[in-house]
Amino acid sequence: MVSRTEANVAHFNEAAVSYETSEKIEIAEKAADAFFDLPGINFEGKRVLDFACGTGLISSFLLPKVGPKGEIIGIDTSQGMVNERFNRKFSGNSSKARAVCCNILSFQHENTPETADLKDFDIIVVSAAYHHIDDSNHATKCLVQRLRSGGKLLVFDLLNDGSSSHYFHDHVPNAKDIVSYQGGMTREHMKTAFQVAGLTNIHVDNACSREKHIESIGQNICFNFFVASGTK
Ligand SMILES: C[S@@+](CC[C@H](N)C(=O)[O-])C[C@H]1O[C@@H](n2cnc3c(N)ncnc32)[C@H](O)[C@@H]1O
Repeated sequence: MVSRTEANVAHFNEAAVSYETSEKIEIAEKAADAFFDLPGINFEGKRVLDFACGTGLISSFLLPKVGPKGEIIGIDTSQGMVNERFNRKFSGNSSKARAVCCNILSFQHENTPETADLKDFDIIVVSAAYHHIDDSNHATKCLVQRLRSGGKLLVFDLLNDGSSSHYFHDHVPNAKDIVSYQGGMTREHMKTAFQVAGLTNIHVDNACSREKHIESIGQNICFNFFVASGTK
C-alpha cells in the first residue's frame, strides 16, 4: 500500500507545474498577512523555515520582510516543487531563499550534509500543509526540535469548525489518499499538538474566510482559516 507521504509526493510532483492558481496565490497571501499581523512577530533579520514550502508562494511574501540579514529555507517532500518551482523562482536570490527536498518527519530521516544545518530557526511557518500530514502531534514535535529556544512556530490552515469544511477538497479525486485531516484542523488538534510539543504562549485565532463554488452540490461555501502560534 502507498503511504500518505508517497501519495503526496506523487500528487505534488505532478501538480507542481500548474499549482499556482489565482485561488492558491490568494490563500497564500492571506496566510502571509496572518503571520505578519501576529503580535510580537517580526521577520526582519530572522532565519526562517518555510516547512512544506511548495512552489515558494509564502516565501515570496516573506522575502522582503526578512531583509538583507535574514534568510529563508524551504523544505518539501516533492522534488517537483523544490527543484522545478521553488529553487527556480529564487535562483537569482539563492543566498536568501533556497529549498531542500527531504522528509524531516520520517522516523528514518537521518542528517545528511544537505540537511545538517536545518536547525536553530527563529521562526517556522507552515501554510496549507498540516492537513496533509498523518500525525499533527508528531509533526509539531519534529518542527519544534528545529527551533532555537524562544523561536516561534506559526501554522495557517483550513479550520474544521464542524460546518461544511469537508467540501474544501471535493474537486480533488485522490483527496482520501493525500489529505489526513479531511475538513481541516480543529482548534483542539492544534492546541493539543502545540502543547504536546512543549510550546508555550499558544494561540489559535481566526485568520480569514474565503468563499468557493462547490460543483458537486452547486453551492458557494464559506471556508474559514486559522493561524496558530506558539513559542519554544
Ligand atoms: C497544499 S501545498 C502548500 C504549499 C505551500 N505551503 C503554500 O502555501 O502554497 C502542501 C505541500 O505540502 C507538502 N508536503 C506534504 N507532506 C509533506 C511532508 N511530510 N514534509 C514536507 N512537505 C510535505 C507537499 O509536497 C506540498 O508542497
